[in-house]
Parts: sequence; C-alpha cells; structure tokens
Amino acid sequence: MNVMQAITARRAVRDYLHHPVEPDVIQMLLHAAVQAPSARNRQPWRFAIVQDAECLKRYSDAAKALLLADGDRNPKVLAYRDLLTQPQFNIFYNASTLIVIGVEERSPYAEADAWLAAQNLMLAACDADLGTCCIGFALGVLNLPEVKQELHLPPGGAVVAPIIVGYPRTMPAPVPRAEPQVMAWIRP
Ligand SMILES: Cc1cc2nc3c(=O)[nH]c(=O)nc-3n(C[C@H](O)[C@H](O)[C@H](O)COP(=O)(O)O)c2cc1C
Repeated sequence: MNVMQAITARRAVRDYLHHPVEPDVIQMLLHAAVQAPSARNRQPWRFAIVQDAECLKRYSDAAKALLLADGDRNPKVLAYRDLLTQPQFNIFYNASTLIVIGVEERSPYAEADAWLAAQNLMLAACDADLGTCCIGFALGVLNLPEVKQELHLPPGGAVVAPIIVGYPRTMPAPVPRAEPQVMAWIRP
C-alpha cells in the first residue's frame, strides 16, 4: 500500500474481532507515530496503551455518564443521548486496544503535534490491515485527574488523541467527502 492508498483506504472502524493487537505491532505503530513532524522538533507526544477490557469498560461507562451529565449544557451531546444511555454501548466499540496520545504540557502546537502523530499511527495501522478510530467521546474521562494519574500523565499534561486499534470484523463503507473548498489561490 502506498501513502495515497492508505490515505484513501483508512476508515473509522467500529466493529472489531476479539483478537488482541500484538506488542510488536503496537511498537511498529508507535514508531510510525513518532515520525510525525512537530513544532521545533519537540516531539511532545506521550503514549499510554490500554489493553485491559475491564479498564476500557470502566472508562467507557464513566465517559457515558460524564457526557450525559454534560448534555444539558452541550446540545451536540444530546444528539447521542439514545446511544449513550444504552448499557451495552461501549464507546471503544469493544476494540482490544486503546492508544492514548497525550502531551506533557498543554499548548496549541503540542496538541497539533499529537494529532499529526495520531494520523501517522492510523495510516500505518491501515497499511497493516488494522482498523482504528479516534474516540473524542473519551476525552472528558481520560482528562480527569485520577485517570491522567493512572495513565502516568503529569497533572499539567493532557490527553489529546484517544485512538482505538484492532482487527476489523467488518469494514465500513467510505464516508463521502466534499470537494475541497478553495478560498483563495493567489497567483502572479
Ligand atoms: C477528533 C475526532 C473525534 C472523533 N470521535 C469519535 C467518537 O467519539 N466516536 C466515533 O464513533 N467516531 C469518532 N470519530 C470518527 C469520525 O466520526 C470519522 O472519522 C468520520 O465520520 C469520517 O469517517 P472516516 O474516518 O471513515 O473517513 C472522531 C474523529 C475525529 C477526527
């Protein structure tokens, strides 16, 4: 698979086999992640890998409760109320692995760097026939002080990009993309 093929083949996968992701595969994904560019080459990304199903369920349940509690203030969450109230709904879609990309210190550049690392990781996963999905739903719970402590992130740090990884049971159909909206193309 070349880069362009991986860019177009990658999908947000939400249906996984129980098969665990092997440690050498995780290492390969992390190696891809840290090849990303970063502001002043600071490489601020830090990684936590969660492969314990009970822990993932605990985070998922806590995330759903947090999101629902926030629902009154956040109308975007209201759209997901039915899904979030389903006891069997797991925000990590029962993927075997969650790779949490965080930064030791919050800053807009550091967060951008972490997202660039996340995209590298997702493209490398796609090349290795793995599925991935960013889980924005998890951000609130993963940034709670006690969870940051569990993930060994310092109190001033932040979780930026939670990415589930696993072997897809089914692949979703491509989601349509709008044509690029070019605002300006300034030429001599
Ligand atoms: C920042 C971010 C947060 C996301 N959060 C979630 C999420 O919480 N749950 C989920 O199922 N998908 C989530 N997604 C996946 C998007 O819904 C998905 O990427 C989008 O629909 C386009 O589909 P594609 O990735 O297959 O092209 C997230 C994606 C991004 C970039």
